[in-house]
Amino acid sequence: MILFMRKLGIGMVGCGVVGGGVLAHLTRNRDLLQERSGVDFEVVRVAVRDLQKARGIEASKLTTSWREVVEDPQVNLVVEMMGGTTLAREVAEATLKAGKPLVTANKALLAECGEELFALAERNKVPIYFEASVAGGIPILKALREGLRANHILGIHGIINGTCNYILSRMADEGKSYEEILLDAKRLGYAEADESLDVDGIDAAHKAAILASLAYGFWVRMDQVYVEGIRKVSALDMCFAKKLGYTIKLLATIQPNSERAVEVRVHPTLIPSTHVLASVSGAYNAIAVEGDVVGNTLFYGRGAGPDATASAVLSDMAEAGIALDAGCVYRGFERHSFNGQTVPMAEVRTRYYFRLTVLNKPGVLARVAALFGAHDLGISSVFQPEDHDEETVPLVILLDYGKESSMRKAYDEIMKLDVVQTPCQMIRVEDFS
Ligand SMILES: NC(=O)c1ccc[n+]([C@@H]2O[C@H](COP(=O)([O-])OP(=O)(O)OC[C@H]3O[C@@H](n4cnc5c(N)ncnc54)[C@H](OP(=O)(O)O)[C@@H]3O)[C@@H](O)[C@H]2O)c1
Repeated sequence: MILFMRKLGIGMVGCGVVGGGVLAHLTRNRDLLQERSGVDFEVVRVAVRDLQKARGIEASKLTTSWREVVEDPQVNLVVEMMGGTTLAREVAEATLKAGKPLVTANKALLAECGEELFALAERNKVPIYFEASVAGGIPILKALREGLRANHILGIHGIINGTCNYILSRMADEGKSYEEILLDAKRLGYAEADESLDVDGIDAAHKAAILASLAYGFWVRMDQVYVEGIRKVSALDMCFAKKLGYTIKLLATIQPNSERAVEVRVHPTLIPSTHVLASVSGAYNAIAVEGDVVGNTLFYGRGAGPDATASAVLSDMAEAGIALDAGCVYRGFERHSFNGQTVPMAEVRTRYYFRLTVLNKPGVLARVAALFGAHDLGISSVFQPEDHDEETVPLVILLDYGKESSMRKAYDEIMKLDVVQTPCQMIRVEDFS
């Protein structure tokens, strides 16, 4: 039985998809949250743009001024669910300067300004909670910071953008083009009207930067993340990948190299169809983390949407409430081990899939293979569909491990061959070895 229940005033900045989910589930699970945290949460002020929209909260609590929320003496904890990086940064800074803990779902804000915000939080001795910023309902940040604290992280591979995974899964299953599935994804609400943040890989890169920062103990900047989106993945590549025993995913790869620097990259990737990540389909997310003590782990679930994201925000609110109640000493961003170094993409060693359009005549493969060989790139398999009598034919080549800079040089030279036409395609391959 709880004898004394601390009341915690919540100020919400933003009440859209995520904020709406938080309000709904706070109402639904209020008793459970009270029992588990010993804190009674009361939403006292909510900032929105449009006061006329129905929100499921008393109109008197609504305001269009985020400052009113942050500065309200009844607000003990600010939950930022507005999005963007300009105003959201002002909200975050004002909250921390006011000595109030901040809960945020905003990956863009943390990826772009995390270092400065954590420094400010440290100066003011107030915490930032941000579980909802990566992979929605999957508690991956808590797992990295707490559950896997005793591990050196040997690698993280993640499918962390639901929109891209939805599009690629349907392309693989239905053999349809990217454009066709994108239109459908927009109609069904799986993609935004402006899809670029998702399909150009930016959203996944924001999340990859946050994951890398927590796993390797230095704040990874966005300009240290290599990003390629999925716009150029074709139905033909899906089909050839399948024949070769692979499937194509937008994969975030975060792993240290031998010189104690970290690769942080997001790009379409061929992964073996037998790997557990290959079976993650639709809008789901999954993150495979390998630790030197624990071995392989896998985290799977819904990465977005009002319910999954509310689960993470409410968990953060509960943690903030418990910490405030117990008068916990502030634990900031924990720096450790790595020294701020990321591996430039040119230095990355990986495997490659090439689909070249070549003239249908003898000797072409030998000329292409010679150029790969000249750049120290070995071919592991070659595939050419039969029954072609056209002037040009696709030539699919899988390379062994090689350096990105060598692959780029070879690719440029191959594209200059008179027997090679457009379109051509290059996708990296991950075999998890
Ligand atoms: N959607 C997801 O599944 C998901 C998952 C994980 C993380 N996130 C992150 O959560 C954050 C919110 O996303 P969302 O999808 O909930 O966005 P959203 O539906 O667009 O909601 C944004 C909210 O902020 C309010 N707002 C915008 N500008 C404002 C201003 N200047 N002053 C006061 N209020 C303002 C909007 O008011 P109106 O309602 O009046 O327009 C709306 O209530 C983003 O950082 C996003 O990256 C989202």
